[in-house]
Amino acid sequence: MTHCPISILSAVDFNDEVIPRDDLVRTAREMLDEHGYVQLVNVPDDFHYVDFASEFGDFVPNYGGPVVGDVRPEPGMEDVYHAGNTRPLTPHTEGYDFTTPPPRYLMLWCVTPASGEGGETTIGDTKPWIEALDDSDREHLYSTVFHWKTTDGIARKGLDLHTEHPVLEDMGAPTPTVRFSCNNLLHEDDDVAVRLQAEWQRRYADEAVWIRYHRNDVLLWDNWRVLHARNAFSDPQRHLRRLQIRPAGVLAGVQG
Ligand SMILES: [Fe+2]
Repeated sequence: MTHCPISILSAVDFNDEVIPRDDLVRTAREMLDEHGYVQLVNVPDDFHYVDFASEFGDFVPNYGGPVVGDVRPEPGMEDVYHAGNTRPLTPHTEGYDFTTPPPRYLMLWCVTPASGEGGETTIGDTKPWIEALDDSDREHLYSTVFHWKTTDGIARKGLDLHTEHPVLEDMGAPTPTVRFSCNNLLHEDDDVAVRLQAEWQRRYADEAVWIRYHRNDVLLWDNWRVLHARNAFSDPQRHLRRLQIRPAGVLAGVQG
């Protein structure tokens, strides 16, 4: 089942005039709080993506150092679980393999959309899913320190990252900070984690919103609350750019 997004914000108004930056940021914040994500459409070619993103916090470098990352198929990476190929990605949060708190927000924007089928970013809001957990499972996910590893693609690039932290933590946001992976949460025989992965994948398949990009579209989401994934595609020209954003003034973020 596919679900169309409802949290959609236009960068220009009904007169085709560019909406002032502060107004755009304010409305985007409101929509993020309500829905956990916002898709920005009708984005002009001269839109200042990095400047817009800087309103939401400081930047966290991508793997290998680039602050603005590229998401596009990379040679020699088609056979592993990795964002830099054309294969699907399973639901996850970003940064479960960081020793620091995960990025609060992720922002993608579309340089070249995928032609043909596929290539959507999908997102699923965990807020109702956490509320649906029974109390003992929720407490277990707060109190149990799990082992996590990075993706096979990143490991192949020489970053064999391992971390230890719970699935749920309170980091000062209105909702719990979630860290989740279908394949890199190493729970061994933990019944609660096994059930969580099965249940959240089932709900994700039913409830996730599919974002189909047009050129210049922006997708911004609350990575402490929302899972994301990707549908497979065939067009090797598909190209997104990405920024990871943490709350301003926290740890060693790059000033936006
Ligand atoms: Fe991701």
